[in-house]
Amino acid sequence: MTGETAVRVALDGLVEWGRRLGQVAARERVFVALSGPLGAGKTTLVKAACEGAGFTGDVTSPTFTLVQRYPAEEPIYHADLYRIDRPEELRELGWDDLTGGQAAVFVEWADKAGEELPADRWDIRLEYADGGETRTVEASVLGSAPAIPAIP
Ligand SMILES: Nc1ncnc2c1ncn2[C@@H]1O[C@H](COP(=O)(O)OP(=O)(O)OP(=O)(O)O)[C@@H](O)[C@H]1O
Ligand SMILES: [Mg+2]
Repeated sequence: MTGETAVRVALDGLVEWGRRLGQVAARERVFVALSGPLGAGKTTLVKAACEGAGFTGDVTSPTFTLVQRYPAEEPIYHADLYRIDRPEELRELGWDDLTGGQAAVFVEWADKAGEELPADRWDIRLEYADGGETRTVEASVLGSAPAIPAIP
């Protein structure tokens, strides 16, 4: 069980960690709940995770499509709940499929899903530090999700 302590990382550290996260998340089909303010680095982390999982194409916040699928040996799904106002709207995204444990799923603004988040997951919170130059990262393993790689 990891969690609680906030680790400070620069951009290169976040990217390096993200690649390792992606390898494990893809292999173990982990649901990853990302939170933190606008511009904190959620999409940056997902892009690194996709690289780690072997997907090298474009990764952007799926703000309009809401869910994207990146093909790799083990595909990664990427959702952004920024525009979700009520947890009931999750149904329209195919939330039940996303939370079924069939693939790795990275969700930005995951706090908007409230009680609808799956019990087995990684919770990752990014916050601004050093006047915006670095970030703090808090990561926790919930339920029976696998161990999370250590933050560099
Ligand atoms: N230590 C750091 N970790 C992550 N990102 C950093 C760091 N330092 C600077 N950045 C920069 O912060 C920006 C983060 O943007 P990104 O799109 O990943 O944020 P986001 O959390 O997905 O935002 P949104 O809520 O709008 O989706 C990028 O330009 C990135 O280069
Ligand atoms: Mg984003």
